[in-house]
Amino acid sequence: MTISPSSFTFVSDLVRRETAMLYDPGKEYLVEARLLPLAREAGCADVDAYVVKLQTDLGERAKVLDALTINETSWFRDNAPYQAFTDVMLPSLIQSRAHVRHISIWSAACSSGQEAYSLAMLLDQHLPPGWTAQILATDVSPKMLERVNAGRYSQVEMNRGLPATSLVKYFTRAGSEWEVSEDLKKMVRTQHLNLSTSFPLLPTFDIVFIRNVLIYFDLDMKRDILRRVHQVVASDGFMLLGSSETTLDMDDHWGREAHGRVQIHRPAGYQPSTTAAPLHPTAMTGA
Ligand SMILES: C[S@@+](CC[C@H](N)C(=O)[O-])C[C@H]1O[C@@H](n2cnc3c(N)ncnc32)[C@H](O)[C@@H]1O
Repeated sequence: MTISPSSFTFVSDLVRRETAMLYDPGKEYLVEARLLPLAREAGCADVDAYVVKLQTDLGERAKVLDALTINETSWFRDNAPYQAFTDVMLPSLIQSRAHVRHISIWSAACSSGQEAYSLAMLLDQHLPPGWTAQILATDVSPKMLERVNAGRYSQVEMNRGLPATSLVKYFTRAGSEWEVSEDLKKMVRTQHLNLSTSFPLLPTFDIVFIRNVLIYFDLDMKRDILRRVHQVVASDGFMLLGSSETTLDMDDHWGREAHGRVQIHRPAGYQPSTTAAPLHPTAMTGA
């Protein structure tokens, strides 16, 4: 490893200031591995020389932020949250939103879009005829948002959790990649959004998936984000976190309901008025 302690501190401070993501000491190898290709591309002898360049070059800084965001994701990641989506959240909303026949979802920290498009596939299969849905996919990384808009995935990415039936139904070959159908693309809108700063004006969401991103922030930032997400979720809406993330002992704006292995979060004080009926049988067939 060649990155110096002062270069590492400069980069970790930059990333923390711009995204709130923590790169603690011990992550030098990761920072170096991710910055080395950028250093070479910029004609620098090594990562330390590149960090000197970063001190004045805002364009290179943006590339560093893109390179250091952890974009790990997959289709129907962890499965259980998506089971809860079709078993609990959708039946409840199909009852409570019958007057508008519309469902609004936020995929916060969407990475390359597998989460948003997984939800779009389930909506396509389970929403009753005549209903509409919109998924807002946001991320701090402009590169990731470009990927969501392109909706193109490599074979390796397709192999990570996508059922063969969904591949056939929703994707077409595009050279060596696969491209998601226009119908699913129409359901997903992207927007650049940094969770660590105050949110822009957002609509009220019925469901927020904010999964596998809070783990990168410190406790105060997690609390602040959970409080701000609470302000944009409908009073009878839902929030889903990653499997290693929780609001327990952290934020009292949220109540928790267990569904199998998943904790479904609902705004605190929410009282169900009736029991949700099971999904409409014709909707279950995707007709
Ligand atoms: C590990 S991925 C999770 C993707 C997806 N939610 C999932 O669970 O598969 C984390 C994402 O959080 C994004 N991210 C990191 N810091 C962020 C911030 N401050 N605001 C918004 N997104 C951020 C990264 O760019 C990355 O795409």
